[in-house]
Amino acid sequence: MDDLRTRYIALIAAAQDEAALEALRVQAVGKKGEVSLQMRQLGKMTPEERQVAGPALNALKDEINAALAARKSALSDAALAERLRSEWLDVTLPGRSLRTPGTLHPISQVREEVTAIFAEMGFAVAEGPRIDTDWYNFDALNIPAHHPARAEMDTFYMARAAGDNRPPNVLRTHTSPVQIRSMETMGAPMRIICPGGVYRADYDQTHTPMFHQVEGLAIDRDISMANLKWCLEEFVKAFFEVDDVELRFRASHFPFTEPSAEVDIRCSWQDGTLKVGEGDDWLEILGSGMVHPKVLAAGGIDPEQWQGFAFGMGIDRIAMLKYGIPDLRAFFDSDLRWLRHYGFAALDQPTLHGGLSR
Ligand code: DAH
Repeated sequence: MDDLRTRYIALIAAAQDEAALEALRVQAVGKKGEVSLQMRQLGKMTPEERQVAGPALNALKDEINAALAARKSALSDAALAERLRSEWLDVTLPGRSLRTPGTLHPISQVREEVTAIFAEMGFAVAEGPRIDTDWYNFDALNIPAHHPARAEMDTFYMARAAGDNRPPNVLRTHTSPVQIRSMETMGAPMRIICPGGVYRADYDQTHTPMFHQVEGLAIDRDISMANLKWCLEEFVKAFFEVDDVELRFRASHFPFTEPSAEVDIRCSWQDGTLKVGEGDDWLEILGSGMVHPKVLAAGGIDPEQWQGFAFGMGIDRIAMLKYGIPDLRAFFDSDLRWLRHYGFAALDQPTLHGGLSR
């Protein structure tokens, strides 16, 4: 027994990997291992001999198992230490030289430009969730159930758990629900814009299932369409970097405004390039109007005391126009060559005094 102990303890201590340890385990304490064979001899012994040999063999078996476990954990500790030694990384090293730095996506650039222009006019930036309730996206905006405007929106509906009978949440189809949320949190008077992603089930050269809008909302005691027109003219001149521009207000209909107008800008196309401000063509850029009294009331604002204007504009669309990008879908393709061609230097923040785009 002493011989077995000395031999196996030495072999285990010398084992270099888990496979060698496993082979030793089978050889010593496996079913047909040497210790197990000794245990089978117990039956042939006298009771007195057995009383001594039985516990001794059990102790030997425990001792060998303990040595196996200890060696196994020593080997894995050593393996880990070796990995830590060979795989280290100096996170304090300087970065690689930026020969091909990342760029700002044109949509991010245009969002910054729009924000800078309206900030100058005293508009704060507001935000809302992209998954919104049926109430914020539709009802509060005077679009009740079964209103045709709901069908026109190609809405993506979220699933509800079985048995939950509330109307499903939606991926917001426009940024207009942020009007209501801002009225609730800020009250009147207020001036906000809300740039953000919106969703509609549509896909072709000028439609993608996710796109971007910027909502505008100004509420005060005596705000009129004249204020709306001035703000939009200032915006268009600053954004397209032209000294003068003519806007055309076309009577239209939106459930959330009364009266409603779609706004076109005067422009011309020369060899496929857009020129804003002069020419014989008109280009539609946004929807707008005076906020409907029901919408003010839904946002908790007294329509007897306050009134306001609102507008909604496609960010992707004005980005395509300003930077001559022909296909909307390219915005979302993540094609590196496209991104390098149309992208903007990351640290070049657009400002009014910098001329926005540089
Ligand atoms: N929410 C409208 C849309 O997505 C755009 C819009 C039109 C927003 C008129 C407005 C507005 O705030 O007054 O088609």
